[in-house]
Amino acid sequence: MQDDLKKQAAEAALPYVQDCRILGVGTGSTVNHFIDLLAPIKHRFEGAVSSSEASTVRLQALGIPIVDLNAVGSLDVYIDGADEINSNLELIKGGGGALTREKIIAAASRQFVCIADQSKLVSRLGAFPLPVEVIPMARSYVAREIIALGGHPVWRENFITDNGNIILDIQRLDILEPMKLENTLNNITGVVTVGLFANRAADTVILASEQGIKTLSL
Ligand code: A5P
Repeated sequence: MQDDLKKQAAEAALPYVQDCRILGVGTGSTVNHFIDLLAPIKHRFEGAVSSSEASTVRLQALGIPIVDLNAVGSLDVYIDGADEINSNLELIKGGGGALTREKIIAAASRQFVCIADQSKLVSRLGAFPLPVEVIPMARSYVAREIIALGGHPVWRENFITDNGNIILDIQRLDILEPMKLENTLNNITGVVTVGLFANRAADTVILASEQGIKTLSL
């Protein structure tokens, strides 16, 4: 059922990309539905900037060319999922480990449309472990710094990001000030990216529930 809601959210995002030449495409099971839905309209797009090897494979299987972000400048629209969403459209992302490329594409896009099922909407971020991508040699150092800030970092074992780095998932956080925490964690030497999307939040969130589609924007 949750998967069906993810598909409904993905369908509701199609109007946002109808005039796009080059799409920004995120990662995860909700985005996988979105990519599948592009099949009948793929001829409209010159290509896509992809946030992960997994999405790249899926897009290429449809015959949609992958484009280097450096070759296209800013994008009109980026479509991606999230692990948690609050009412300010701030997000936790990176459950799939693709947070760094996701953050880069979100930053380079004029409109970030987040697609999700209703279960992702929370009153306060942090129940979902906050992913932090870290340069491998800095793992222990960054973990100590996170502990000093009151967090409980857990090394995501047997996982290497598409960028060759490791992930620390910070458990049991009650994130009162998302922007401030994003900046603090980003400032730890050895941190590549933190999966808090507060400085660059979503512009629009499409939420699917049993009651239908709800669109949130600020
Ligand atoms: C990938 O790294 C994540 O940021 C995903 O966007 C997030 O985990 C959402 O995934 P689902 O669509 O599978 O719930």
